Amino acid sequence: MKEPFNPFIINTYQGKEYFCNREFELKTLISHIENDRNVVLYAWRRLGKSALIHRLFDELESSKNYETLYIDLLATQNIGESIQSISAAIYDKYGKTSNGISASIQKLMASIGATISFNSLSGAPELTLGVNNTKQPNQSLAALGEFLATRKKRVVIAIDEFQQINDYQGEKAEAVFRSWVQQIPEVRFIFSGSHRTLMEAMFTEKKRPFYQSSMLESLQPISLEDYSEFITQHFQVAKKKIELDSIAKIYHWSRGQTYTVQLVCNHLYAKHNKVTNADVDVVFDQILVQQQAIYTNFQKMLTRTQWNVFRAIAKEEPLQNPLSKGFIQKYNLGAASTVSTALKALERLELVIKDEENYLVHEVQLARWMARI
Ligand SMILES: Nc1ncnc2c1ncn2[C@@H]1O[C@H](COP(=O)(O)OP(=O)(O)O)[C@@H](O)[C@H]1O
Ligand SMILES: [Mg+2]
Repeated sequence: MKEPFNPFIINTYQGKEYFCNREFELKTLISHIENDRNVVLYAWRRLGKSALIHRLFDELESSKNYETLYIDLLATQNIGESIQSISAAIYDKYGKTSNGISASIQKLMASIGATISFNSLSGAPELTLGVNNTKQPNQSLAALGEFLATRKKRVVIAIDEFQQINDYQGEKAEAVFRSWVQQIPEVRFIFSGSHRTLMEAMFTEKKRPFYQSSMLESLQPISLEDYSEFITQHFQVAKKKIELDSIAKIYHWSRGQTYTVQLVCNHLYAKHNKVTNADVDVVFDQILVQQQAIYTNFQKMLTRTQWNVFRAIAKEEPLQNPLSKGFIQKYNLGAASTVSTALKALERLELVIKDEENYLVHEVQLARWMARI
């Protein structure tokens, strides 16, 4: 891996040197895996679930006892596409050998109706699934599972954005996946998802296929203390300076959301050798201005009442009682029943979340922007 120019990474995992703490969470996950327990890792968006999975996989792979597969279901629309993602991950990991494409992988892919073609421009192999595949998801998964279960090393699969399977229409995706997981008890699974309420419901409601099948781990924000140490140290290495109260200011403005803390620090590190609180304010402004075009689109997406309620929550958050007279009158929101309907819609869209009895705007940067308008 190439060294990054800026130690505050804002896209993916780039090695543990640029990864702040999470040692306790890492130990917990390793212990689940070492004791044959599947895990559900869930949290609000951009807190660091995917990065933590990569950090864990880094650790597992270097222990030489495990093989890891990372699958992201975010862009998938149906079971067929999810199987395509799983096949592609297996193909990427095991398909290429020093003398071409592995014969056993070729056989496996053919058995599930996948064909390997070569990109005419780059010459790189590409995987496509035959149409008939979607009709037999159980068989395809069984074949893929059998391959994974017979690997010498223990296989750990992370399925990220797992809540996505709730959107597959007319398919019993949960039941299909649940029976797959049961068929291959030697393979460990980590199910991760951003939609906290959906993920919780899938694994804690009695009637659902995944009920009580996995350990629930909810990821919390990195503590201010741990983040202060990490930020200070990276500034020091470059002979730069940032005071603890500036870090606290960043942390609170970001509501502890990992991505936003990283983004602010990335900008400050790039621009200054000695950061002042005024510099921090300038970066906040710049970040919000950059997002402006995206944010104004939200207004078009929502009804007028939804928008007004949304903005009022941004201004008041953390808000405890959105149906209180005081709140409704202050923002002139109309009847309590109208506010209640709008709020439900905002929660369903996960624009507004309820976190320990407090209503918050899910995207912290959006909240900061809306609070200003
Ligand atoms: N412990 C960490 N230290 C430093 N950066 C992190 C850490 N965890 C996550 N990040 C960064 O924060 C951003 C959001 O993390 P990500 O894992 O994508 O969140 P999630 O999957 O929960 O939505 C990413 O850019 C990632 O590089
Ligand atoms: Mg993620």
